[in-house]
Amino acid sequence: MDSDLPLFPDQASTLAPQVDGLFFFILAVTVFFTALIFVLVLVFAVKYRRKPDRQEGAKVRATLWLEVVWIGIPLGLCLVMFLWGARIYFSQQRPPSDALDVYVVARQWMWKLQHAEGPSEINELHVPIGRPIRLTMASQDVIHSFFVPAFRIKMDVVPGRYSTAWFQPTRTGEYHLFCAEYCGTKHSGMTGRVVVMEMADYERWLSGGTSGAGLAAAGERLFLGLGCATCHTSDSQARGPSLDNLFGKTVTLRDGRAVEADDAYVRESILDPAAKVVAGFEPLMPSYRAQLNEEDVIKLLAYLKTLKTGAETRSVK
Ligand code: CUA
Repeated sequence: MDSDLPLFPDQASTLAPQVDGLFFFILAVTVFFTALIFVLVLVFAVKYRRKPDRQEGAKVRATLWLEVVWIGIPLGLCLVMFLWGARIYFSQQRPPSDALDVYVVARQWMWKLQHAEGPSEINELHVPIGRPIRLTMASQDVIHSFFVPAFRIKMDVVPGRYSTAWFQPTRTGEYHLFCAEYCGTKHSGMTGRVVVMEMADYERWLSGGTSGAGLAAAGERLFLGLGCATCHTSDSQARGPSLDNLFGKTVTLRDGRAVEADDAYVRESILDPAAKVVAGFEPLMPSYRAQLNEEDVIKLLAYLKTLKTGAETRSVK
């Protein structure tokens, strides 16, 4: 990362060349037609200007082939842009299942980045090269937007829900992280950097930080402190559903719907338990919105992911 802001950012993720390819295609089409129209306006203005012997214009007849051509070419070009864009959009919306998880909490005016393996960082994110990284992002206050130009990712972080994004870095180095949504007086200072490292360096960096069990351990303290275990037990008389092997499971609700137990579902069930009540249970659970902030919820998610019974294996998304 240079201290200057280059006109065109580095290509440092698998997404970057795809986005740039489409961008330059659209740019080329736009420049070509803009130039064509300007030249024709000038040529026609000279060629068909009013002359003493030509006061009245000649009658023009519609020509079928001409109409077909100038409807067909723009239609074809737009469809190419649409299909090309849709392909990139879909691959960008679906993180690979072997992605490393990083939780992002945005607030006025900082980024808190929490690795699933343990360490957390402020306004800095260290990641290994060549591995997909999945971001699960929440906001503590207003709308922010996670923007790393070199990776060509920009995703709004909206209060009250999780936003997700993913990227796979292809070059080591340091890259700008910006907030790309006006979020108050110090919005322009809500910046940071993403450091892409070789795997060996990354592992060294990981081991130098806090221990990997830190996040789940903090979650367990919350779980016990809030008394979650009084209702969520594995026994059949329990007032709340068992939380063992929860993640990745399909859960049947009281109203007959089936939902997948992912981060967003579990977060909602902690903060707004009445929204999706599991079949066979009463809506008894109070909301923990007042007691927990987004970081606490992430700690609880980390702890809940460690709850497994021996017999069953966790299904992988
Ligand atoms: Cu956060 Cu702008």
